Amino acid sequence: MKIFVTRRLPDSVMARARGMGAELHDSDTALNDTDRAALLRDYDAVVCTLGDRFSADMFAGDPRCRLIANFGVGYNHIDADAAQAAGITVTNTPGVLTDATADLAMALMLMALRRAGEGERMVRADAWPGWTPTQMLGQTVTGRTLGIVGMGRIGQAMARRAHHGFGMQILYYNRSAKDLNFPAQRLDTVEDLAAQADVVAIHAPGGADTRHLFGAAAIAAMKPTGVLINTSRGDVVDEGALIEALESGAIYAAGLDVYEAEPAVPARLRALDNAVLLPHLGSATLEVREAMGNMALDNVEAFVAGRQVPNPV
Ligand code: GLV
Ligand code: GLV
Repeated sequence: MKIFVTRRLPDSVMARARGMGAELHDSDTALNDTDRAALLRDYDAVVCTLGDRFSADMFAGDPRCRLIANFGVGYNHIDADAAQAAGITVTNTPGVLTDATADLAMALMLMALRRAGEGERMVRADAWPGWTPTQMLGQTVTGRTLGIVGMGRIGQAMARRAHHGFGMQILYYNRSAKDLNFPAQRLDTVEDLAAQADVVAIHAPGGADTRHLFGAAAIAAMKPTGVLINTSRGDVVDEGALIEALESGAIYAAGLDVYEAEPAVPARLRALDNAVLLPHLGSATLEVREAMGNMALDNVEAFVAGRQVPNPV
């Protein structure tokens, strides 16, 4: 069995992969499309991650590959239907990054409501005139209403934090109703949710099915005091419409960890004081990245042993 790992993962994960006989592209730079497509012809199992695009055309010509084990829960960079049609199983790493991603969504919400990014920039610029009773007044977090778009594992973890920790009311939009162990009201449209929520947090998977799910109409429906948080995938939100709403003051603020054309972040967005901008840090803790790597390798190990893979998408 020939196994290939496309990117540098935490040391302990690389050591385990080496022990399994995998070949490693021990680099932070993604392979180009041509080299990545060649992996499907030359290897039985490929461990890949965010930014490693596998489009439908790459699966043509009866590839040798039978397993793509994605390091990450989101797999919108892989055409999973085309993979399946080519007889390739795709696996991902659900669960292990749920809390870390919800923690970061919470950090963005707190920063956006309390103007923490703006304040931090002022201190660093040595531009703080000193405390005054009316300086940089933000919005109280406790008791506000949070609207969750996509009530999966991460959406639920975010809702639990907001409800139990901050006394927030929870609304959600999700294709199906969820059996939840905290109070939450399901709404039929994202526009209704946008109109009623003080903060909207996006936790939808990304990819063709959810592209611009939170579009111009939803952004227009938000309150002028409304805040939009996105830690899922940039393409779920209409970024152009969001920038316009932030620029015109139609909404209050945004907290973003993901962007439509990552790692490109539009200059207009970077110029805005009411946008908190992070570099896709959702799952970025050492423990979580090790757990993600080990989960991806567990899937490879099961595949090599001829067992059922634990985390097919
Ligand atoms: C990271 O964004 C992931 O999908 O795991
Ligand atoms: C991700 O694991 C989700 O279901 O939200």
